[in-house]
Amino acid sequence: MSERILITGGLGQLGSELAVALRERYGEDSTIVTDLREPANDLPGPFYQLDARDGTRLHEIVRKERITRIYHLAALLSAVAEARPHDAWSINMDGLVAVLEVAREVGASVFTPSSIGAFGPQTPKDFTPQDTIQRPTSMYGVTKVAGELLCDYYAFKYGVDTRGVRFPGIISNVTPPGGGTTDYAVDIYYAAVRDRRYTCFLQGDTYLDMIYMPDAIKAAIDLMEADPARLRHRNAFNVTAMSFSPEEQAAYIRRYIPEFEIYYDVDPVRQAIANSWPNALEDYAARVEWGWQPAYDLDSMTADMLKTLTERQATGAL
Ligand code: SER
Repeated sequence: MSERILITGGLGQLGSELAVALRERYGEDSTIVTDLREPANDLPGPFYQLDARDGTRLHEIVRKERITRIYHLAALLSAVAEARPHDAWSINMDGLVAVLEVAREVGASVFTPSSIGAFGPQTPKDFTPQDTIQRPTSMYGVTKVAGELLCDYYAFKYGVDTRGVRFPGIISNVTPPGGGTTDYAVDIYYAAVRDRRYTCFLQGDTYLDMIYMPDAIKAAIDLMEADPARLRHRNAFNVTAMSFSPEEQAAYIRRYIPEFEIYYDVDPVRQAIANSWPNALEDYAARVEWGWQPAYDLDSMTADMLKTLTERQATGAL
């Protein structure tokens, strides 16, 4: 059966590119984009304005469009969640409950991204295992752990096919991320192309896991297509493609833009969040259970980001 897919938060960093990839894979009409915001420009495919917490409207859309799979991406990221903890709880949790309830009623499968933010200061920092201590200290992390547990609960209690990955920072060049701790790793490329310099809000020696958008999309699609008989875990799989610090990322940028300079103006809130997260995950379970294998490392991602943004600058679109 061909999939009928709905994305919440579909105008965000991941949703905007995932929608394109899903339509390429499952057909132009396969994928419905929803978002709290109205799109700034005309979108190519079907769009509904939707607050994912509005279960009644979500239910109407899912029924009308005969949805079989939901990518639930609507959420506040870590730095915004820390500034607005009650909103973060409401948006990240009530939205998920509404999605899971609809999925239970119609028999749809659900992908929910968790995050490296689901770990905390007591978690082993290096080669962070799949199954380990999860006591995050950020509100974002609290919602991510609660979300992982709730998705597993719906799988075991109601048989809903819920799956997820713990995404690292996602680096991309179509839609910017908003309000995350790993946003610097995206901004740095735009600044390198535009200004040849960047002021970073994290310390230069802060290591975090990262992934390039094509690999993030591949993870989201491949996990949902994986043979359920092989999945020992569901919510959520560690995935990573690389781990680096701002200093290291700047050094790789200098291979292509030798005059690039990095400065630091540390934001204590985002630094504290970053310090509570792992340096580098181990993603063996994802590799074994559904064949996870990233294509990009820091060098190939840097080359591709700089090439893409430089070409865009030449057309005046940067
Ligand atoms: N990129 C996310 C953030 O920084 C991590 O999941 O919030």
